[in-house]
Amino acid sequence: MENLKEIANQMVLKGKGILAADESTPTCDKRFDSIGVEKNFNNRNEYRDLLFNTPDIEKYISGVILFDETIRQSTTCDKSIPFTELLKSKGIIPGIKVDTGAKDFSGFKNEKITEGLDGLRDRLKEYYGMGARFAKWRAVITIGETIPSDACIHSNANGLARYASLCQENGLVPIVEPEVLMDGSHTIEDCYDVSQRTLNVTFEQLIMHHVDLSGIVLKPNMIISGSDCDTQADIDKVAELTFKCLKDNVPSDVPGIAFLSGGQSSDLATAHLNTMNKKYMSEMPWNLTFSYGRALQEDALKAWGGSNRNEGQEALIFRAKNNSLATKGEA
Ligand code: 13P
Repeated sequence: MENLKEIANQMVLKGKGILAADESTPTCDKRFDSIGVEKNFNNRNEYRDLLFNTPDIEKYISGVILFDETIRQSTTCDKSIPFTELLKSKGIIPGIKVDTGAKDFSGFKNEKITEGLDGLRDRLKEYYGMGARFAKWRAVITIGETIPSDACIHSNANGLARYASLCQENGLVPIVEPEVLMDGSHTIEDCYDVSQRTLNVTFEQLIMHHVDLSGIVLKPNMIISGSDCDTQADIDKVAELTFKCLKDNVPSDVPGIAFLSGGQSSDLATAHLNTMNKKYMSEMPWNLTFSYGRALQEDALKAWGGSNRNEGQEALIFRAKNNSLATKGEA
């Protein structure tokens, strides 16, 4: 357990955060479509190579979440070095997405259940052998007129706990990601209520399954207005309600909380994290950092456009540096 605790602490070290580069192949293909780049194995390899070889990335990034295809890939720009080795040589911890996706929840319209528990123990052993030291599992909770149902929250929380327990058994730190989606016209108060319910049940399940909370990283959504809500809460309100929700519902044993960006603009994702750390850091028992996908990569992807490697790397390092500053409330 000592080792898991150490890894978890390293992942959320002040000044550093996690790069979520674990887009599944269909999601990565969608991103490539948006910039007119042909979607194939080699282009996905080339893009990840650009990200991981960005000069100075290790100053701001503690860990990278990989997808199954990516963890088996190697550098393209020089002699072929497995990505896991490249990252380790920079002091960056390789991680791996292990859920197999959010699927329709039978019996419950418009709700999702995350799958991937079958065979997970064997897959974790294989990933550990390849160098991964942490894993990620994303559960998805949708807000609507009559949802989320208790069944959806409980089933997803149970899946997260079963996954987390298997990770710890096999030497990997579980990133526990119960994402309450920002899609919809709900208010920030609705997001607060649903996130509170979700966090509550998630920790109840983690504790019930004997998961050691000092060896996990929580990856939650921020408390924000639904993307189609007429009234958009400002940065201070988001910081205030997010901090309150976490303070009331996340046990202090948890070493760190690394937010997902969830579709927020890159600027807002940084501003929200910065304001929380600036205003409330002295009251936090855990480190508050980022585990962004889109908010770190959006500009880099566009700047790269399939061929401008240096521009892509410059855009990534700009976002990584600003979010690093935001972990200290200095952005
Ligand atoms: P976003 O920051 O784009 O939400 O991605 C983070 C992630 O890992 C989602 O599972």
